[in-house]
Amino acid sequence: MNTHALDPLLADQMQAADADGKVDALFAYLEQKGASNYDEQVTQLEHALQTAALAKAAGGTAAQVTSALLHDLGHMLVCEHNAEGDFLAEDLEHEVIGAKYLDPFFPPEITVPISLHVPSKRYLCTVDPDYYDSLSSASKHSFVVQGGKMDDEQRAEFEKTPHLDLAVQLRRWDDEGKVMGLDVPGVQAYRDDVLACLKVDQG
Ligand SMILES: [Fe+2]
Repeated sequence: MNTHALDPLLADQMQAADADGKVDALFAYLEQKGASNYDEQVTQLEHALQTAALAKAAGGTAAQVTSALLHDLGHMLVCEHNAEGDFLAEDLEHEVIGAKYLDPFFPPEITVPISLHVPSKRYLCTVDPDYYDSLSSASKHSFVVQGGKMDDEQRAEFEKTPHLDLAVQLRRWDDEGKVMGLDVPGVQAYRDDVLACLKVDQG
């Protein structure tokens, strides 16, 4: 159970804004809060932008690009990072925090893969022997914190999950989006994708 206070600022700003204003608020938040370290190689913002760029380059849908860009928002909302990068010591369930926070604004096609991107790592480590070896050292460490391999029952249960294919694909982009110094487009490159995904009653 997470006991850390969430930052209400972004949700307040998004509630009050029209569609363009919601995207403005999201992008400003990513740019401001994303300056903290994701791991030893990249900042949160660089990681978000690289993950979105991978989704885009793979021909991903607007929903896939949007979930890629926003998948680690939960890390920023609980301010669990600091400049020393000691954030992996405690599992704060950032994936659930981010998905719930975004739920009023985006459909399940986006929030479900976000909420599953951590268990998707557990799933991939369970079903794909080569996958674990491909992880970064920070990601290997967090895998242990996040529960390690699934047993048969957990795996069978997880395979019933809606949007599992989207979640697993998001996870693979997530793992690749950690390249130091990579030149990728900024947040505005994804404005149309994010706009297209806002819930109709929020548009
Ligand atoms: Fe990530």
